[in-house]
Amino acid sequence: MLETSDMSFESSEERIVSPELTSMEAEGFEYSLRPQSLAEYIGQDKVKENMRIYIQAAKNRGEPLDHVLLYGPPGLGKTTLSAIIAKEMGVNIRITSGPAIEKPGDLAALLTNLNENDVLFIDEIHRMSRAIEEILYPAMEDFALDIIIGKGPSARSLRVDLNKFTLIGATTRSGQLSAPLRDRFGVVQRLELYSFEQLGEIILRSATILGVACDKDGAAEIAKRSRGTPRIANRLLKRVRDFAEVIGDGKITGDIASIALDRMEIDSLGLDSLDKRMLEMMIKGYSGGPVGLETLAAAIGEESVTLEDVCEPYLMQLGFISRTPRGRCATALAYEHMGYPLPEKIAKSADDLKQQSLFEQN
Ligand code: ADE
Repeated sequence: MLETSDMSFESSEERIVSPELTSMEAEGFEYSLRPQSLAEYIGQDKVKENMRIYIQAAKNRGEPLDHVLLYGPPGLGKTTLSAIIAKEMGVNIRITSGPAIEKPGDLAALLTNLNENDVLFIDEIHRMSRAIEEILYPAMEDFALDIIIGKGPSARSLRVDLNKFTLIGATTRSGQLSAPLRDRFGVVQRLELYSFEQLGEIILRSATILGVACDKDGAAEIAKRSRGTPRIANRLLKRVRDFAEVIGDGKITGDIASIALDRMEIDSLGLDSLDKRMLEMMIKGYSGGPVGLETLAAAIGEESVTLEDVCEPYLMQLGFISRTPRGRCATALAYEHMGYPLPEKIAKSADDLKQQSLFEQN
C-alpha cells in the first residue's frame, strides 16, 4: 500500500529531544508552526539564497525547477522547505517517502497523477529499493515511464510520457544514495544544524503563533537545549509553556525555562541519556578513543545509524567529538562537560591547539 502522508521511523522510542517526528507531529499538529514562504523561513541562509535564484530563473523560463536533493540531519526542515519551494513555484506538492513506495506501480501512480511542473517530494529517498530507483531514472531525465508488457521473449517496453515535474529528494545520508541517482539531481543542498541565535528567533516566532508570552532569556534557554534542531525547539517550547502556565504566571522567562527543562532532564546543552551514554563509553570504555562507530554502537546497544545521524552531528557541532581516520575521539570539551578529569594525552593536545591559535593570532 502506498502511503503519501505517513512517515516511518527507525526508532520506536519517542525521546523528547529526538529530531524524528513524533506520531502527533506526523499527523499534522506541527504544521501551524511551519513557515509558509522563504521570507518567513529562518536560517539556512545559503540554501535559501540559492533556491530563490533557481526558483526565479525557472519561473522566468516557464520551466519546472530542476530536481533538488536536500540532505542533512533530521528535524532541520527538509519537508517544510520543499513545501515552500512548491508554493514559491506556484505548483502542488505530493509528499511520500522511500519506504512507503513498495511496488513499481506505486511510483507509477504517483508520477502519472502529477500536473505540469508539480513537485514530488520523497523523504528518506535513500531507503527506496533499486527496482523503484530504476523507474525514476527515465522519469527524472526524460519525463517518461518505461512500462514492460508481458514476460520472457515476447516482453515489450512501452514508453509513456509524463508531465514535467520536479523531484525533491530528502535524505539524512547522501552517502547512501547510489551514484546514478545522485547524479540526476541538478541542485544538491546541505542543511546545517541551526545556531542558538537562529533557534531563539524560531522560538520567539512560534511563541507568537501559539499566543504564549516568552521573553528573550526564555527563548535563549530553550534554544541552548534544542540540539540545533527547530523541531526539538518547538517541542520543548510547548512543554515549557505547560510549566509556565501551571507553576508560573504563564510567561516563559529564563528561570521558568530552566526549571522546566531541568525537570525534563534535558541538560544545559540539550544532551540526553543517549548522547551521554555515547560520550561516557568513549571516555570510560575506550580512553577517549579513537573508537569505530560500529564498535561504539555495539558497546552501548544502539543502532550505529542513530549514533551517526542523530548524536554525532550535534556532538560535532559542540566540538565534543572529532572524527579521525582511525575512529571517533572525545575532546577536552567533552571531558569537561561530562565532569571527567582530562587524561594527559588530551590535555596536551588541547594545550597544543591553544598555543597554535595564540600563535596564529599574533
Ligand atoms: N519553524 C520550524 N522551522 C522553522 C524555520 N526554519 N524558520 C521559521 N520557523 C520555523
